[in-house]
Amino acid sequence: MNLKNKTKNWKLSNFFVNKRYNFNRKRILSYLPKSLIDQAYVEISKWRGYKKTPLIKLNRLSKNLKVGNIYYKDESKRFHLKSFKALGGAYAVKVISKGEKKIIVSTATAGNHGRSVAWGAKRLGLKSKVFISQHVSNERANSIKEQGAEVIRVKGNYEKSLKECIKQSKLNNWKIIQDVSTKNYKFVPKLTMAGYSLIIKETSNQTNQYITHIFLQAGVGGMAAGLVAGVARYFKRIPKIIIIEPENAACVLKSLDNGKMTKIKIKKESIMGGMSCNEMSVIPWNILKKATNFCLTIKDNRVPDAITMLAKKTFSDKKIVGGECSAPSVISLISSCNNKFIKKRLEINDKSNILLIGCEGNVDKKLYNKLYLKGLRNYKNEK
Ligand SMILES: Cc1ncc(COP(=O)(O)O)c(C=O)c1O
Repeated sequence: MNLKNKTKNWKLSNFFVNKRYNFNRKRILSYLPKSLIDQAYVEISKWRGYKKTPLIKLNRLSKNLKVGNIYYKDESKRFHLKSFKALGGAYAVKVISKGEKKIIVSTATAGNHGRSVAWGAKRLGLKSKVFISQHVSNERANSIKEQGAEVIRVKGNYEKSLKECIKQSKLNNWKIIQDVSTKNYKFVPKLTMAGYSLIIKETSNQTNQYITHIFLQAGVGGMAAGLVAGVARYFKRIPKIIIIEPENAACVLKSLDNGKMTKIKIKKESIMGGMSCNEMSVIPWNILKKATNFCLTIKDNRVPDAITMLAKKTFSDKKIVGGECSAPSVISLISSCNNKFIKKRLEINDKSNILLIGCEGNVDKKLYNKLYLKGLRNYKNEK
C-alpha cells in the first residue's frame, strides 16, 4: 500500500499557536514536584510485571515524511492493562491506602482510569467501586469488573457518574481516587500524573537522541501535563510541546485561546473516547498554559485508517495495536506535515526526532475490531 497516496488528504481541523508559551522547569515542577515524580518511579518500577513499554521506530513513516526519527511509545504493553492509565490510578491507590487493608476505594471513569484503580485495589487486596456513565461501553465495563471491582452504572454523562460517586463515597466512607483535579482536590490527581511521568523517564533511557517534538493527546490534560512535568524533570533539552485534541472536544485549545480555563459544549462525542472531555483539570491547566507551544485538533474520520495502518505495518516494521486514542498521534503528525506552512511553523525537518504516544491498545476489543475492519475496507479499496 502506498503510504503517501493513502494519507495525502489528511489534514488538521485547527492549528493554534500559544502566544503565552514560556517553558519554565521550576514553575512546572512547582505544580508537580520532583519528589512526587521520583517517588512514583521508585515505587512503580518495583511492581511485579513492570517493564519499560517499547519505543518503536516508525521508520517507514519517517522516511515518507522526510524527518529524522519518529518514535512511538507503545502503551498497549503497559502491564496487562493496555493503557498508560495503568501508571496513574493504581499508583494513587497504593499511596492513599497507606498499607491499610480495610479501606474501600472508589472512582468515576470513562474506562481506563477505573480499570487502573480496580487493578491497583486488587493488587493490594482492597475492594473497589467504579462508577460509569451510560456512555461507557459494556466491553469497558466488563474489563473493569474483570479487575474485581463492583461497577455501578449511572444514568447520564461522566459528570453525573462523578456526582454519584462522591455522594455514595461520603455516605460509606470510601476513599475517592479521581484523576481530575479541581480547586479543592489536587493531591490524588497529582499522584496519577506523577505515575504518567514514568513514560518520559523510560524514553530518556531508550534513546540517546534529543527529542525535538512531542505530540501529546489530551482529554482533561492529565496525561499531557504529567509528561510535560516528566520532560521538565528528565530531558536535557526541551522539545516543542504539541497538544492534540478531537475537533469536538478542544477544551485545552479553547482555554489557551481565552487565557483561562474554559468549559466547552460537546456537540457530538468523539470516537476518541478518552479524549472527549469538555473541561480541563486544574493542575494540567496550570502546567499546560505556558508549556504548550501548539495545539492541534483533528476530526474522527481518519481514526479507522490510522488504526489499520498501525496494525498493517504501514508506518514501521512492527505490527502495532493502537486504539482510538493512539491513532491521533500519527494522524496529527502526518496532517501537520501535509501542510507546508504548518510543517515549517512546527520546525519539523530531516533533523527532527519526534515522540508520539500510543496511549492505549485494544482495550475495547469490539470497538477496536470495528474500526480496524472499517480501515481495512478503505485500505483494500485504495490498494
Ligand atoms: C485512553 C485515553 N484516555 C484518556 C486520555 C486523556 O487523558 P487526560 O484526560 O489525562 O488528558 C487519553 C489520551 O489523551 C487516552 O489515550
